[in-house]
Order: sequence, then structure tokens, then C-alpha cells
Amino acid sequence: MTAKLAAHGGPKVRDEPLVRPEHARARFGEEERRALAEVMDSGHLCSVTGERTRAFERRVADCFGAAGAAAVTSGTAAIHCALAAVGVGPGDEVVTSPITDMGSVIPILALSAVPVFADVDPETWNITAETIAQVLTPRTTAIIVVHLAGQSCVMAPILDLAGERGLKVIEDCAQSYLGTCNGRPVGTMGDAGCFSLNDYKHISCGDGGFVISKDLGVVSRARLFADKGYDRTGPARDSLVFGMNYRMTELQAAVASVQIEKVDGIVRRRREFAALLSGLLEGIEAVRRPRVAPGVEHSWWFYPFTVDLDAVGTDAATFAGEVTAEGIPVTFPYLAKPVYLFRTMQSGKHPVEATYRKGLCPDAEKALGEMMVLPCTEFLSERDAWDIATALRKVCEYHTG
Ligand SMILES: Cc1ncc(COP(=O)(O)O)c(C=O)c1O
Repeated sequence: MTAKLAAHGGPKVRDEPLVRPEHARARFGEEERRALAEVMDSGHLCSVTGERTRAFERRVADCFGAAGAAAVTSGTAAIHCALAAVGVGPGDEVVTSPITDMGSVIPILALSAVPVFADVDPETWNITAETIAQVLTPRTTAIIVVHLAGQSCVMAPILDLAGERGLKVIEDCAQSYLGTCNGRPVGTMGDAGCFSLNDYKHISCGDGGFVISKDLGVVSRARLFADKGYDRTGPARDSLVFGMNYRMTELQAAVASVQIEKVDGIVRRRREFAALLSGLLEGIEAVRRPRVAPGVEHSWWFYPFTVDLDAVGTDAATFAGEVTAEGIPVTFPYLAKPVYLFRTMQSGKHPVEATYRKGLCPDAEKALGEMMVLPCTEFLSERDAWDIATALRKVCEYHTG
């Protein structure tokens, strides 16, 4: 006899919330508070006169072994600055992923360049050299690879393709701090790596971001773009290039400087939790654990999985709702639709004339109809992993008898 589901009035697997308010509070502590107080006491809240932001940039560059870093106000701003720094301009085509945040796409539009969507690998949900090659045209100038959920794209063939075609590669690392591909950290393989420090990411300063590059020219052009084109080293104010005001404040830099020191431990704990959970899910036949490409080390921004819907005989939304009712929050869908079907992209009310139709990237559309998302934070325990596995097993067994 199978147990009565909580969704049908049965007992829940778990009453206590999996993700608790104290987890959010524990992300920030005395060190962040002290760093913020020091900035307030210094009287310099702006990075033009303060020292924290420049120090944060040096530390970040050191951490990643990059030549330099430019700190900015968001991950979206980081991508905007990076694209401008590598020379993307009006009419250029920029290839990216249909499974991402609008933050990967807005900067392309803001430069009056044209977003072009490559389909994803059906198992890793990342774009690949093969799918990118299919959408290249003589107008393509850059690729923004999105390392989704913490998993790096398979970079060597993408870098080879970009090299052959003279394309710039920007890495969107917003979800993938310390992910690696063949031992190389994400953000260090392309022309620039872009990171977000918004409150949902591995580390946070509320909102913020940064660009890293092995090319100091890219870094200084990104920094100029983030500061209205002003070269602050000169004696008199002169705007050298078109730019925005994306300056990180000293307050953001104070918090980000403490957070960057925590990222190793955060990613380590997430990897331990994901390994434990994957082990526990192994025995549940209908559950398909995330596939990690060979040579890639995941950094688990979240834990994506799918279910053999034929075997359970129900749809993904019902399945996710039933597991959630057991006290284990499962997000479905991850995105309502691929980015190119978002209303903004369909409205025609953006700077670029391009039309995107349903069916453009069939594997991405299929993936979004299947992919479910579990939390995978550094605060989750062995017991939490057991509860997740118990809830998934209970719902699967209910359906498979
Ligand atoms: C893959 C990806 N790229 C870019 C961004 C944009 O980052 P931000 O929110 O800091 O602008 C996000 C944020 O959710 C993201 O997940």
C-alpha cells in the first residue's frame, strides 16, 4: 500500500521549512557589519574617492588569477560593460542561451546588437559548440555562454570555434562561482567573465557584480564604460568613451569583500550536499539526477532534476506540487518559457528588430517543460537531504504503485 500524499490530506514528510529565515540572516555577520561601519566612518561612500572598491577589484582578480577586475552594480551591468569592452556594437549578432535570466540579454539589446539564441544540450541545459555553430552568421561578433545552475559549459570546443571565427567569448558566471571545466575556473576561459552579487547568488552584497579578464585592456574599457567614460587618473574631467554609471558603491564593496572570502567554503558545502543528495536519489528509479558533463565540476547554485513522467504517469507541475505539499519546495517551471518568448522579447518594444518564434530552440523548450529545481544551499544538512529523498520516493511510489 502506498502512503497517502500530503496533497490529498495525508501526513507531510516534513513540517519544518527546508529553507528558513535564519539561513538568510546567517549569510551576513559581524565582519560585514564592521566593514560597513568602517565605510560610514570614512566619509567616503563612493568608489571615486573611497578605496574599498578598488581593493575589492584587486582581491577578486587575485582570487581568479585574472589580470584585473572591474566592480559594477549588477551582473547585468557586468555583461553590458564586458560586451562594450570587447567591442560589440549596433547590428552585431550575439549568440546566447535561451535558458537564462534577462540579465544576459538586456545588455545585448542595450548596445543595439541582436540576441541570437542557440539551443541547449538536452541533458546539461547549456549551449554547446554544435548548437552555437548552427546559428552563426557573418554578423556574429560574440558569444555569451551561460553556465547554468553552477555547471560550466563544455568550453574547449566553444573556444576553438570562437578562435576559428574571430568571435569574442563572454562568460556569464552569475550562477556558477568556482565551477570549473577541465580544471579551469569559469570566468577565466573567455575574453571576460561576468559575475552577479545579487541576493540570490552564492555570495551577495544586495546587488552588485564584476567583470574579470586576463586582458587589462578589457578591464580598463569595462571600468571606463561603468563610469560614464571618465578616466579618473587624469587631472581634468573628460569623457573618453560612451558609458553608463554602473559604479559599485563603497558600501557594496565592503560587503562583497567579506563575502568573496567565504565563497570557497560555500561552494564546498554545496558540493558535499549535492553529492549526498545525488547518492540518496540513486535508488529512486523515476528520478533523473542532473547530468554533469565530463571534466566539469559543478558549483550548485541550485539542484536541477527531471522525472520520468511516463513512468509516474503525471505531469511535471502536478509532481512538483505534490512534492512541495510534502514540505519540500520544488520549483517548476524554472522559467515560464525560454527567454526569446518572454513578453519583452515578443513586444517589439526594444531597440532591435528581430522576431523569435515558438519552436526556435526545441530542446530548450522541452527542457523547461521538464526541469524541476530543488534548493541546494550551504545551510542544508544530511537530514534535509534524507527528507528530500523521502518526499520524492513517496510521490514516485504513489504514482507507480
Ligand atoms: C545567468 C544570469 N545572468 C545574469 C544575471 C543578472 O544578474 P543581476 O541580477 O545581478 O543583474 C542573473 C541573475 O539572476 C543570472 O542568473
